[in-house]
Amino acid sequence: MSHSVRTPVPWGGDGESRAAPVTAEDADPTTEALSVAGWPGNGDGLLATPSPTPPDVDVIRVVGGVRLAGEVSVVGAKNSALKLMAAALLVPGQTVITNVPRITDIAIMAEVLRRLGCAVTFTDEEPLGPGPARSSTVTIDVPERLCSEADYNLVRRLRASICVLGPLLARCGEVRVAHPGGDAIGSRGLDMHVAGLARMGADISGEHGFVIAEAPNGLRGATIWLDFPSVGATENLLMAAVLAQGVTEIDNAAREPEIVDLCAMLTKMGARIEGAGTSTLRIEGVRELRPVRHETVGDRIVAGTWAFAAAMTRGDVTVTGVNPAFLEIALDKVMCAGGHVETWPEGFRVRMDQRPRAVDVVTLPYPGFATDLLPMAIGLASVSEGTSLVTENIFDGRFMFVQEMARLGADIRTDGHHAVVRGRERLSSAPVRATDIRAGAGLVIAGLCADGVTEVSHVHHIDRGYPNFVADLRALGVTAERTTAPEEQSFAF
Ligand code: EPU
Repeated sequence: MSHSVRTPVPWGGDGESRAAPVTAEDADPTTEALSVAGWPGNGDGLLATPSPTPPDVDVIRVVGGVRLAGEVSVVGAKNSALKLMAAALLVPGQTVITNVPRITDIAIMAEVLRRLGCAVTFTDEEPLGPGPARSSTVTIDVPERLCSEADYNLVRRLRASICVLGPLLARCGEVRVAHPGGDAIGSRGLDMHVAGLARMGADISGEHGFVIAEAPNGLRGATIWLDFPSVGATENLLMAAVLAQGVTEIDNAAREPEIVDLCAMLTKMGARIEGAGTSTLRIEGVRELRPVRHETVGDRIVAGTWAFAAAMTRGDVTVTGVNPAFLEIALDKVMCAGGHVETWPEGFRVRMDQRPRAVDVVTLPYPGFATDLLPMAIGLASVSEGTSLVTENIFDGRFMFVQEMARLGADIRTDGHHAVVRGRERLSSAPVRATDIRAGAGLVIAGLCADGVTEVSHVHHIDRGYPNFVADLRALGVTAERTTAPEEQSFAF
């Protein structure tokens, strides 16, 4: 398969259209008109009346057989910015967060904060690449008195909104947050969030689909041992602990760079935290915090997506805006597959000159291989020489998307949390459907290794985590378009 041949554009249209309704999380575009018109910051439209006619679904079409080449810059991490926004709730006044990605999940988080009584505004930052600005500065004005209820309508659209539980309980002494339920990558428990807050003295119950927590006399420090280094539980407990009376110790805490970023912002706010980035966080509660300005850490998952895309397409891609140390294992896998990797403090370059070799991958909490890069690892394995064993240890539904990869001709057999992938010289274009953010990006990138045109539908999932995805693809030499297709005419399912 030649990766240098460019195929002429086989369709009309030119745009990364954002005019279509944007949906989020598991919202079904056939029944939900979750319009974020004029994204973001207008505060209206999130809960628009369902349209009587089924809306179109957004699709991305890419022409395969291209070698990715060029430079992309990544902006702030979704999974950091969402928590930084929640942390703003801890203090009345104006918190400013910069380098926030322009993605749907952030728009929904802004709406969650507005419903709680905050004023949230966005100012676009300079575009760092082709297309419109991909990051914003977010200003959050937090009132003295907050509403303490986050309803299901919003929480089901953004499961990360559960991260308001800790800060709201710390601020208000009571909170009702809708239980988000499971999602397309698996069951998503809350038991560690709940047990940790109970340990800190909260009275927790569940009724009518809500998690209800009360601590009328305030939270008190406690020693909490997490059964698993859960990212969300670590963050919720951390945000609750900064205003608790006394010392909290979280053992077996998650160590992700996004947690270190949250600790950095909280520390600037006046919190006393030791052990950020280690498995033991020690937090000495303070009486009050101050609002600050903070820059979001670069997105390692978006950066890793481009690293794998470069390797899969035998390309040469430079990625800036991220510390490559956050991707140590992922970049090591690319090297084991035969790629050349060069790093510097704020970026890296991946070059692959031949067909990649098969490598085994095991996902683990940070600093292990990120589960969010699993679809990209499967994609790489699908076009590598040899057989790879890919093991998923975080989410029980993460392999759901492999059925779609199979439509592209990938030879994947799953058994429990293992996938055996026999590499093929090339994939075969087909209409496929994105089921979650990372699977969506992984399918588009797999399409780059297929002959012909691959159409990925339901790409509103990709909008949840990748700002200007199509513009970036194009900047790297891909013939790509984003358009809409009526649900009933889309090929998927
Ligand atoms: N878990 C429990 N009980 C709990 C908490 C977690 O059983 O109380 C289980 C979950 O069901 C899951 C595993 O532990 O099987 C990991 O969950 P974790 O809490 O670590 O993940 P999260 O906070 O729900 C965040 C990211 C995910 C990322 C994971 C793992 C955000 C908003 N989400 O989820 O990102 O995959 O950590 O790194 O930060 C994405 O961005 O596409 C995404 C899914």
